[in-house]
Amino acid sequence: MNGILEVIFKRRAVKVFEPVEISEGTREQILNAARHAPSSFNMQPYLFYWVRAAKTKGAVAKLCLGQMPAETASALVVAVADIGSLAATSQSQLEWMRSRSEFNEAKIRGYERTAKIGRILFMPGPFGIFGAVKWGVFWLLNLCKVMGMPPVSRHDLFKWATKSTSLACENLMIAAEALGINTCPMEGFDGRRLSKYLGLSARYHEIVMVIAMGKKSQTYVEPPQWRRPLHATVTIL
Ligand SMILES: Cc1cc2nc3c(=O)[nH]c(=O)nc-3n(C[C@H](O)[C@H](O)[C@H](O)COP(=O)(O)O)c2cc1C
Repeated sequence: MNGILEVIFKRRAVKVFEPVEISEGTREQILNAARHAPSSFNMQPYLFYWVRAAKTKGAVAKLCLGQMPAETASALVVAVADIGSLAATSQSQLEWMRSRSEFNEAKIRGYERTAKIGRILFMPGPFGIFGAVKWGVFWLLNLCKVMGMPPVSRHDLFKWATKSTSLACENLMIAAEALGINTCPMEGFDGRRLSKYLGLSARYHEIVMVIAMGKKSQTYVEPPQWRRPLHATVTIL
């Protein structure tokens, strides 16, 4: 079988890990694979906290409700949807484009314009007032043209960022598996306390999941893997 498919089919949510060290090189490859996932407008609206120091890991594991995968993991990765870095990200891409010969002035100006429109479209504004105006404008425009609806509230923005964050998480887990590191994604955590512990901003950051990383314990026996049959989840049109 194709190597990537093999890794995808081999990955399981492992619930008990052995204490092993994850080397810096492996960590870097895993995180690099995560950020190579596709993201909406290439905005990469996420942050990853790789928690490995014993004391911090213990505290984070406790905030993951003391779950066994968290307690036994070699490292815990906290994946955060980040809606506070959009302007900085487009600025950073702009600088990168300016430093490369492949992009002429027209291309750079085009990106600048798109980024400006994107910033306006994605801004909820104070008290969500701009978001409400945007909703009204797009609702009216949709009456005569197929346009869809941009994120209008902070909640919509977090939903938007969560999609890209989740794709990066899946890349991270598949890359880990390929490198011999097992994982367990977890949404069982106290989001408010964990955010506070990591010093995150309630305005711009929302924890999407925590991923326990390590080597599967020899004592742990996975249950058989069940999935809904294809016909229950797929419609071919
Ligand atoms: C978003 C998400 C949240 C999850 N949260 C937890 C969790 O808090 N604790 C846990 O033990 N497993 C958690 N899991 C793992 C699932 O239970 C597991 O993926 C599922 O049972 C299928 O098993 P498999 O991944 O081994 O095929 C989570 C998985 C996902 C995708």
